[in-house]
Amino acid sequence: MNQDELKAAVGNRAAEHIEPHLTRETIVGVGTGSTANCFIDALAKSKHMFDGAVASSEVTAERLQGHGIPVYDLNDVNEMQFYVDGADEANSNLELIKGGGGALTREKIVASVARKFICIIDETKLVETLGQFPLPVEVIPMARSSVARKLVALGGQPVYRQGFVTDNGNVILDVHRLSITDPCKLEDEINGIPGVVTQGLFARRPADFMLMARASGVIDELWGQSKASD
Ligand code: A5P
Repeated sequence: MNQDELKAAVGNRAAEHIEPHLTRETIVGVGTGSTANCFIDALAKSKHMFDGAVASSEVTAERLQGHGIPVYDLNDVNEMQFYVDGADEANSNLELIKGGGGALTREKIVASVARKFICIIDETKLVETLGQFPLPVEVIPMARSSVARKLVALGGQPVYRQGFVTDNGNVILDVHRLSITDPCKLEDEINGIPGVVTQGLFARRPADFMLMARASGVIDELWGQSKASD
């Protein structure tokens, strides 16, 4: 199967994991990117099974609404059962690098609310050590240079993502040449730099469950430490 077919396969499989809550509203958090788009398209077929979605970006909100799926403001949602999203890189602890599409901050917020984070990838995203994919860091524009200097001091090589503005009005530095052997420590260090809004490491809040499509078409199911339940 080619990569597009693999993304469609994990998107479909993830939609099968969205089960309605019998006594409360069922709200699904939805990520951003080409794999998340496959999930949205699959989710549309069972939209009668849940109450609505919270989007991690403007583009995801548009796609959900295009399918007639109600999109809620996160402030109006008390509880979220699922968050489903792709990743740029994942390790076997289900720690992730995300933000290749620039939606990392809202992705991180929505993921933090969900009881169960289901990550959907194809096997090209699985790595032993995170950092081959440049780590996106969302930065308040006036702090671009000062943050870049601190990232160099941490051993990285930050590159300004030219011409890109996030949904929150900020800029992105993509940090190359990091070999991330302690993802939680680096996440804390970068979060502590003044001017950083957030960064794309999902280690403090990794995925709970991962669906990974292999080139053969087989989909592996991997559990993280939390063993979150539906
Ligand atoms: C968006 O900001 C990202 O976090 C995406 O979730 C991630 O880049 C994966 O995207 P693809 O599914 O398009 O590879």
